[in-house]
Amino acid sequence: MNKITAAITAVGAYVPDFVLSNQVLETMVDTNDEWITTRTGIKERRLLKENGKGTSYLAIKAAQNLIEKANLDPKEIDLVIMATATPDMPVASTGVYVATQIGATNAFAFDLHAACSSFLYGMSTASAYIQSGKYKKVLLIGADKMSSIIDYTDRATCIIFGDGGGAVLFEPNEEGLGLQDEYLRSDGIGREYLKIDAGGSILPPSEETVKNGQHFVFQDGKTVFKYAVSGMADVSEKIMERNNLTKEDINWLVSHQANRRIIDATASRMGLDEEKVLINIQKYGNTTSATLPLLLSDFEHKLKKGDNLIFAAFGGGFTWGSIYLKWAYNKQ
Ligand SMILES: CC(C)(COP(=O)(O)OP(=O)(O)OC[C@H]1O[C@@H](n2cnc3c(N)ncnc32)[C@H](O)[C@@H]1OP(=O)(O)O)[C@@H](O)C(=O)NCCC(=O)NCCS
Repeated sequence: MNKITAAITAVGAYVPDFVLSNQVLETMVDTNDEWITTRTGIKERRLLKENGKGTSYLAIKAAQNLIEKANLDPKEIDLVIMATATPDMPVASTGVYVATQIGATNAFAFDLHAACSSFLYGMSTASAYIQSGKYKKVLLIGADKMSSIIDYTDRATCIIFGDGGGAVLFEPNEEGLGLQDEYLRSDGIGREYLKIDAGGSILPPSEETVKNGQHFVFQDGKTVFKYAVSGMADVSEKIMERNNLTKEDINWLVSHQANRRIIDATASRMGLDEEKVLINIQKYGNTTSATLPLLLSDFEHKLKKGDNLIFAAFGGGFTWGSIYLKWAYNKQ
């Protein structure tokens, strides 16, 4: 029997309708379209504005889009992994709620939190469950309602983030397609540079923490930028080297969308031409756990069976890594 690999066999996505453009941000904080565009590549982002709707709403919509496109019976799903940095609630698992809402009543579910690398780590986790031979259909969802933790008076963060969700289905493959190799890293040095101070077990929420805005994301952008550029480029180069991949062998770079300059630096270290780099940051900004599946959804029509994809991400913590995956289908 051939070795079992974990292949992506379907993709779904969802972004909310509300668009927050650079022009509108100009009226909210001291910034301008030219600065945002040249420093980040972002033109607009989507926000989930309706009261009472959280990350699960984005996740359910993305999963339902996949289920419909793939004509999948949700009862066949064995496991739902919910990659997110913004769960609905600190305790009750968002993934469990999502699984029930989409009708995945035979699945077990859990949340996976690794900041902007949540989806990348989720790919590794989903693949390991498939390779164990015990699970046949693993649904990996990446969704974040970043607008729930962003201070819209802080120009250092509010220009960057957006809301969205995406989902992929992993299934066993015996043709050698799917996940080939991974190189995942983390380093606690990052804790001080990208964080939310309050609301966790060190500093529970209080009147004081809310008054100080400590429930919002704080980012030392310059430092994060420096680590992200070298981290993502290093792991992507490493995964090419150890799989004997030349730049000609790679069809697509599927990179976390945090800053256009970080993506370009990674592509440049890999020696890749611009047309091999999937980009949609201009439309959505940084949607944290949703960037990678949103790219797969937007560019699904271009991906061909057997294509070599390199995924790369970098996030708070720090967390980062790279995954080499062979695409398993042609879109109908
Ligand atoms: C946040 C980020 C876009 C800032 O870009 P940068 O080129 O590093 O900008 P700097 O912070 O050095 O600021 C440069 C200048 O622009 C100003 N500036 C900062 N934000 C601004 C904004 N939104 N609009 C206009 N000017 C701004 C700064 O005050 C500074 O002015 P000064 O030179 O007069 O002091 C960039 O650091 C970044 O993308 N960091 C990594 C983000 C990331 O990847 N985060 C998620 C990880 S998953």
